[in-house]
Amino acid sequence: ATTQNLQSALSFLTLGDRALPANLAKPAVGIVCGSGLGGLVDIIRNKVEFSYTEIPGFVNSTVAGHAGKLVFGLLGDNDVPTVCMVGRFHYYEGFALSQTTYPIRLMSLLGVQTLIVTNAAGGLNPAFQIGDVCIIEDHINLPGMTGNNPLIGPNMAEFGPRFPPVSDAYCPRLRRLVYEAAKKLNIPKFLHEGVYVFVSGPSYESKAECRFLRSIGADVVGMSTIPEVVVARHCGIKVLGLSLVTNRAVVHREPRSDPDAPAEERPVEEKMASHQEVLEAADSRAKDLQTLVKYLVEMI
Ligand code: 6GU
Repeated sequence: ATTQNLQSALSFLTLGDRALPANLAKPAVGIVCGSGLGGLVDIIRNKVEFSYTEIPGFVNSTVAGHAGKLVFGLLGDNDVPTVCMVGRFHYYEGFALSQTTYPIRLMSLLGVQTLIVTNAAGGLNPAFQIGDVCIIEDHINLPGMTGNNPLIGPNMAEFGPRFPPVSDAYCPRLRRLVYEAAKKLNIPKFLHEGVYVFVSGPSYESKAECRFLRSIGADVVGMSTIPEVVVARHCGIKVLGLSLVTNRAVVHREPRSDPDAPAEERPVEEKMASHQEVLEAADSRAKDLQTLVKYLVEMI
């Protein structure tokens, strides 16, 4: 069914009355815009847009702040043909991971060779501040390790092998280019590199879960991206992942309930994670991240 849907989607985009013009129909770069980062399409030129509702095989995203359209156009001063997902599908919406990653397979069929995935994430590393950007250097696919990997099921051999490696998932050259782009933008001090842990959500983590995630080596935590990365790597697409740190995950222990407990066990004032906070932080740094991605695409 997936293969058939993909062929229908490809025909819909490249043949018939709404077909893409030849200069846009073979995008070299794919971009997935995370929460509040959809403004990236503002700097794409010669745009042709398709609502997710009209593309065969796409499901409908249900999250506030995720518009849901596929935008084709030219990005950067050197006119790089690009396809951009504004709004992505999440596992917590109730979709199968094969559905949330379907657009990545479509990108592969369109000829995309480089995928830039962005997201809003919670900071677990105490050195990461709100508004900082974390280049994903590696991931922990927690649902994937415990039975929910997007590649479970018959292997789609036309895309890639049964047992693809992901130990090399995050292209070192692309990661280096981010530092160059950040230097041009004068924002290198907001840049980190780290491990993204994928959790299913939609509830944010408990404090004990945050301490657990930190202890297993994660720097940022989020509810997306990694299934897309796994599928992209299966297809042989080069990947760059960027997380915007939109809030600090709460890691401190609860104080003892005993009123006679020593002073050092007093409660620590901490802000709970909220979607509002995530969207506000995304907003304030979004422009920088957009320009960063534009510079990157020019250098790819
Ligand atoms: Cl704190 N947790 C998760 N799972 N996803 C997030 C987040 C936190 N902040 C932004 N996205």
